This record gives sequence, C-alpha cells and structure tokens, in this order.
Amino acid sequence: MLGLTPRPPALKGRMPRTSLISYDRVRKTFPGPVVAVDDVSLAIAEGEFLAIVGGSGSGKTTLLRLTNRLIALDGGTIRIGGEDIAGLEPVALRRRIGTVFQNGALFPHMTVAANIGITPRLLGTPANEIAVRVDELLDLVQLDRKAYRDRLPDALSGGQRQRVGVARALAARPRIVLMDEPFGALDPLTRDALGRDYRALHDTLALTTLMITHDITEALLLADRIAVMRGGRLIAIGTPAELAASREPYVAELMTTPRRQAARLAALLPESGAA
Ligand SMILES: Nc1ncnc2c1ncn2[C@@H]1O[C@H](COP(=O)(O)OP(=O)(O)OP(=O)(O)O)[C@@H](O)[C@H]1O
Ligand SMILES: [Mg+2]
Repeated sequence: MLGLTPRPPALKGRMPRTSLISYDRVRKTFPGPVVAVDDVSLAIAEGEFLAIVGGSGSGKTTLLRLTNRLIALDGGTIRIGGEDIAGLEPVALRRRIGTVFQNGALFPHMTVAANIGITPRLLGTPANEIAVRVDELLDLVQLDRKAYRDRLPDALSGGQRQRVGVARALAARPRIVLMDEPFGALDPLTRDALGRDYRALHDTLALTTLMITHDITEALLLADRIAVMRGGRLIAIGTPAELAASREPYVAELMTTPRRQAARLAALLPESGAA
C-alpha cells in the first residue's frame, strides 16, 4: 500500500489536514455471493480530488453507491465529516453530496433549467431563487444561459449534457461530488476540455471529489491521488509519482499505457510545450 498523504503541489497551498470522507474496513456482498467491496479502508482529505480506477466489476460503482447510501454496507464504517453515515438520513445525506453519472442521466422530458433545478425544488426553494441559481450554474459550466435554459436534453451534445449533469450535481452547493465515469462516452477532445473545466471548478469551489474512471491517463492528469481497485479490494493508492514507483504488478501494468503514450508523444511532438 502506498502513502496516504495528498500531493501538495496540486493542492495549491490548500493542503488539507482533516479527512472529509473515510472508509474503515468497508465490505459489501451481493447474493451469489459476490464480494463487491472487500475490506476497503481509505481516507479522503477535504479538498482532495481522488480518482478510482480498476477493471469492470472491481467494485468502483458499489463503493460510490455505499457512500451516498443508495445501498447499505455489510461491514465496516463510512464517515463523512467524522459522522458515521449509518446514523444520517439517506435523503439528507444525498443533498450534501452531488452526483454525476455517465451520460448525464438527465430527465428527458424536463428542460435543462428544470433538470438543474430539481434538487433545490425538492428542498422547497422558491421558484425565483431557483431561476437565479440555474443561471449561475449555467455560467459556471460555461453554457450560454439564453441558448440552453429551455432546451430538452435530446437537443444537446454529449458534452453539453455532461455540463448540465455537473450543474445539476452542484445545484444544492454540496461539498462533496461523486462522479461515475462522467466523461467516458465523450470524444477525446471534449473529454479533455470537460475534465479540465471540472478540475478548475473543483479547485474554485473547494470541493472534495471522487471520480471513477476507466482511463488511467485521465486519472493521472486530473486527480491528486489515484485509488486502484481489483476484485473488490483496494490494491494501491497514491499520487501519480507514487503509483509510477509501485512494484505491484497490476499497477505497473496499468502504468505501461500512459508511459508508452507519453514516450511516443514526446518523440512525435518534440516542439510541444507542457500542456
Ligand atoms: N445490485 C447488485 N446485485 C448483484 N451483484 C451486483 C450488484 N451491483 C454490483 N454487483 C456485482 O458487484 C461487483 C462489483 O460491481 P460494480 O458495479 O461495483 O463494478 P465496477 O467496478 O463499477 O464495474 P464497471 O467498471 O463495469 O462499472 C460485480 O461483480 C457486480 O456484478
Ligand atoms: Mg461501475
């Protein structure tokens, strides 16, 4: 297991001291039986951006669903801000945590504004306040207010849908954002732009983010630390430099693709500056 300390330079002087989310020996079994999450312990600092990578079926989504209590754990403890989430009301908990899904998961018959405003509406926020908030959020995710407010999700590109998904997740001003393959279905350029824009929002809004991705390169470029899951277990966690030094065979294998890409790109684009 690699070090648990966040990477200071990426945190730009806001070195977090306290852990906001902690998992202590968390376990989740499904009938089969399948041990989807197996004895996972992990602490995420306030302000940290953590990526979770791992193959299909390694337990990534299950870990996220346990965090907002969409499903209940079988063993161990998850704490948010020091509080055991078992003692928190699930609906109240989900309002403190914004969630972004693959493909946006927008309601198809609701406009962009209605999709973004859904959580404030459920919280009983007055309509005029919601309208102001929706416009603020459209600005935040860089979608033109007038052009997009009244559109239906069908009339958006995949990248625009994901921007709306991010806006909706931020509507109730959560401190924590959970993302499950948020940019997975996008073309590489859109994916890169959205990833960078989201990372900037994470920093500006001082969010704490857990992002699942299949793409180790995306994880290395966006996250402060990367957690690697395999067969329900957390097999490594660390900064990009720490993962690069890992002797764990699966981690070493994961790192070969970005290394090879970096070497090839450096050879092909000798004049290009650092991105
Ligand atoms: N509701 C469920 N009932 C039964 N088994 C489940 C359920 N949810 C997940 N599993 C099983 O738990 C394991 C972990 O699934 P999970 O969805 O967490 O994987 P994942 O890492 O998110 O995979 P992917 O990258 O394909 O999304 C898998 O074997 C899966 O089949
Ligand atoms: Mg999944």
